[in-house]
Amino acid sequence: MSAILLVMTGWDPAEWQAQFLALAPRREVRIWPDRVGDPAEISYVCAWKPPPGLLAQFPHLKAIFSLGAGVDHLTGDPLLPAVPLVRVVDRDLTARMTEYVVLHVLLHHRRLRLYQAQQRERVWHEHAQPAASEVAVGIMGLGVLGRDAAEVLARIGFRVAGFSRTGKSVAGIETFHGENGLEAFLARTEILVCLLPHTPATEGILNLTLLRKLKRDGALGGAYLINAGRGMLQVDADILAALEEGALAGASLDVFPSEPLPRESPLWTHPNVVITPHNAGVSDPRALANNVLMQIERFERGLPLEHVIDRKAGY
Ligand SMILES: NC(=O)c1ccc[n+]([C@@H]2O[C@H](COP(=O)([O-])OP(=O)(O)OC[C@H]3O[C@@H](n4cnc5c(N)ncnc54)[C@H](OP(=O)(O)O)[C@@H]3O)[C@@H](O)[C@H]2O)c1
Repeated sequence: MSAILLVMTGWDPAEWQAQFLALAPRREVRIWPDRVGDPAEISYVCAWKPPPGLLAQFPHLKAIFSLGAGVDHLTGDPLLPAVPLVRVVDRDLTARMTEYVVLHVLLHHRRLRLYQAQQRERVWHEHAQPAASEVAVGIMGLGVLGRDAAEVLARIGFRVAGFSRTGKSVAGIETFHGENGLEAFLARTEILVCLLPHTPATEGILNLTLLRKLKRDGALGGAYLINAGRGMLQVDADILAALEEGALAGASLDVFPSEPLPRESPLWTHPNVVITPHNAGVSDPRALANNVLMQIERFERGLPLEHVIDRKAGY
């Protein structure tokens, strides 16, 4: 017996189980917490926010699949078994994230909030509009998601740069890396898009000190932040302070240190902030069940698993 166990918090496991069974009817696909069966029969766990310590209860576990691109919901578990930890890399998820990034870059670039406010007042007034080729977008995190968004934004015409931990070369994109590259990257960036993973090195990186280094005197006449990475990257109070003092002209936030964003947060009602409920790049079981099953089949044929995370780097 080599069973797959679905462990998820906040998502409907029945929907995932149906997708797994539709694609692989002969597989044993179980659901935590009610239908786990014999823990010794669990070979694979597919997880979204499992309770810490749970995965250590399966003595014959061979691999853990994160059902989201991020693995921070797993790496914080001190008892996480030392088996390969695989993250999701899937065209469906990447395309959804790129939609979100492009939507929000264009929203700030084309001043949609301003025109919405004017519409409410029945004001017909046109503002100066820079060309995309005059506007510098900077993407923090030039991984699978960041790179796709960067390439689409460059195709639209924006001046796109990317920032990563290690050096990268991407056609048509200016690249920066490491601590030394960060200053220069921020100094040329008017719209900062954050698609970093949450690791000890990135926690709280979107703070007032960093936001003050963005370019405010570019074609847009202000700096903007779009965070669709993880909430723990940002300091909400610092974003509000940056908006207050003018370091930021606006922000689109999909993720927050505390989710759902508490009702009393001033971010909800800030006129220059767009809030979305952590749905920039959702994990759709119709796409991702197939992705995980393909990986398991490869693994059982003796081929290496793809997109295994580096435990030391944390992503
Ligand atoms: N809001 C949502 O709905 C949603 C959905 C999916 C994913 N996400 C988030 O998006 C993140 C990125 O996903 P991905 O698939 O693009 O990940 P990825 O392929 O692993 O890319 C991560 C990128 O971040 C860079 N990075 C990591 N630590 C860094 C550091 N300390 N300093 C500078 N750069 C650093 C990496 O640099 P190197 O290239 O040098 O390794 C890489 O370019 C996920 O971890 C998740 O948190 C959010």
